[in-house]
Amino acid sequence: MVYYVKQGRMPPTRHTYENRRKLLREELFGEESFDGSYSLLYHRNEPTRIKEIREVGKKDPGFGVRDVHTLVNTDLIRREGDFITGRKPLFGNDRVIISILKPSKGTNNFFRHGMRDQLIFVHHGDGSFRSIFGEMPFKSGDYIYVPKGSVYNLGNAEESEFLLIESRDNICIPQRYLNRYGQIKEGVPYYSRDIRHPKLRVENHRKGEYFVYVDFDDRYVVETRDEHPFDLEGWDGYHFPFALNISQIMPIVGKIHQPPPVHETFSSKSFMVGTFLPRKYDFHERAIPISYYHSNVDTDEFLYYSSGNFMSRKGVREGSITLHVRGMLHGPQPGTVENALGKSETNETAVMVESYERLGMSVLAKRLESKDYMKTWYA
Ligand SMILES: [Fe+2]
Repeated sequence: MVYYVKQGRMPPTRHTYENRRKLLREELFGEESFDGSYSLLYHRNEPTRIKEIREVGKKDPGFGVRDVHTLVNTDLIRREGDFITGRKPLFGNDRVIISILKPSKGTNNFFRHGMRDQLIFVHHGDGSFRSIFGEMPFKSGDYIYVPKGSVYNLGNAEESEFLLIESRDNICIPQRYLNRYGQIKEGVPYYSRDIRHPKLRVENHRKGEYFVYVDFDDRYVVETRDEHPFDLEGWDGYHFPFALNISQIMPIVGKIHQPPPVHETFSSKSFMVGTFLPRKYDFHERAIPISYYHSNVDTDEFLYYSSGNFMSRKGVREGSITLHVRGMLHGPQPGTVENALGKSETNETAVMVESYERLGMSVLAKRLESKDYMKTWYA
């Protein structure tokens, strides 16, 4: 749940009709069966009208777990495919898949994830998120949340670069950030006003041939439709795609070092997403401003370095990913604590995914892996 939105035309009472000769087709769009957050969508056409169905195969990422810390440089990944077929899964398990997306071409095809909520982090570029709920411009630094089942297309994806987090469990605003009325509390790093939603523009699309790629994890089911999938006259409710730009997130700082939960942005049953932002360092006169050694005995810690100066981390550059696995200690590399003393701020931006299940590493990620990362603590 984010907040209530109502756009376009609909009967004044749900599950009723307004004009018998011009019936709108009502769809309940929601998660957790009929118990989760939902919206009511009013189609001009019957949304179940599909001319043809075919299956298209998907490549198995070949996830296998690693027992040592890992560094992967994603700047080695070349542009390929469109926003649907160009996803490159690097880390994942049954619950969450983390991919890099750098498409080389645009497409008129539409996409719907049948299995997973998506969180699209825009690393570079700007364009348009066009969906059944309406259109929403996106820009660098946006998190775009797409609930499973949303039909959409990404305009100008071929000029952009994305990090993708795809989750079987609902991705949401952390429960501890909400008061008992569902409103974002005071003291949380962002507020409802910072969240953008798509604007519906009712258009008369021509009959034609439209393809919707539905992702079932191991394959696509491709629907051929003779009516444009964006056919809503109106919608209302609490369940819809939205965007939050990281420049609107206000980092929490402290007199001494603050642990990762203060950087939490989104949560799910199986992981949390945190955002490390440019911020003032801890202001105790003898503060050690960087992280202490830590044992993540219950989590695997994924970190995507988005922008800033990562010189303090050996081998890390823009687009690098580190995975620090459970069961092994990690923390500052030799010399970095000494170098950090007296520093007053950082300009680094990074996206963290803390997974409660072990994260596997794909065949592609293994190919891109920097071989000597474990040795950076033995110098
Ligand atoms: Fe860590």
